[in-house]
Amino acid sequence: MQLPAKHPYLNLVFPAPPSERPYVGLNMVMSVDGKITVGGQLKAGSLGSPFDRYTMSVLRHHFGAVICGGETIRRHPYYLGVSPELIPFRKARGMASQPLTVIVTNSGNLPYPAPLFEGAERPIILTSQASFQRVTQSLGPVAEVHAVGEQRVEVREALAFLREHYRISRLLLEGGPRLNYQFFKERAVDEVFLTIAPRLVGSVSDLTMVMGEDVLENLPRLELISHFQRDNELFLRYQVPRN
Ligand SMILES: NC(=O)c1ccc[n+]([C@@H]2O[C@H](COP(=O)([O-])OP(=O)(O)OC[C@H]3O[C@@H](n4cnc5c(N)ncnc54)[C@H](OP(=O)(O)O)[C@@H]3O)[C@@H](O)[C@H]2O)c1
Repeated sequence: MQLPAKHPYLNLVFPAPPSERPYVGLNMVMSVDGKITVGGQLKAGSLGSPFDRYTMSVLRHHFGAVICGGETIRRHPYYLGVSPELIPFRKARGMASQPLTVIVTNSGNLPYPAPLFEGAERPIILTSQASFQRVTQSLGPVAEVHAVGEQRVEVREALAFLREHYRISRLLLEGGPRLNYQFFKERAVDEVFLTIAPRLVGSVSDLTMVMGEDVLENLPRLELISHFQRDNELFLRYQVPRN
């Protein structure tokens, strides 16, 4: 494994966050034919290489919190933290040892016990007013549950809450596509880190990176700000212009 000091993403520079919410990065891995799942899910190693998984950790180390949708967590209830050797780099930047974990769910149906719950800080669960009581009953003993939206989590309200209540100035979104869609719809993604894995999936039923009902307004046009190659894998960094 490459030493962290040599990783191209170790010393990234980020723009200042907007005043009302954290700066938001999205990180995903997809196949050459644009799929982010294989047979309906993403098993470790089925798309990305070990280096890609390490890159995920290097990216996380720049962020105050990592956020995922409930379905991604049900399928992969892993701890959303950074590798131990990255902790000193966070500390040198005045950050906590690990990013906070944030999960969006209305069902409250998350696997427990699971590594996800084993960090030093309890995960933050964002849910709706309508689901708050039920989710608090199931997850309240092991997580911090907050309602941000009436029937569903409202992305803008959630982001303002994370900024104000938890002082999160940079948030890393790690999917899945249904949650990604809502962030894009609310124009709440500032940049995209995308790994293109040298694989073809082929099935019509597998998911793509952003999935919702309608075409996104104005087909957001991304600006490629960096790229590097490692073996047959391509690592792209895009900026999403704010307007
Ligand atoms: N290749 C990659 O980089 C990558 C990355 C991440 C995920 N994935 C894959 O993506 C798949 C999952 O993606 P997905 O799009 O089906 O699901 P998802 O976005 O991970 O999660 C959807 C779930 O999140 C909760 N949710 C989303 N928006 C909400 C809102 N506004 N209010 C309340 N709850 C909300 C709901 O959870 P409840 O049902 O609990 O209410 C909903 O069912 C998995 O197979 C995973 O492996 C791939």
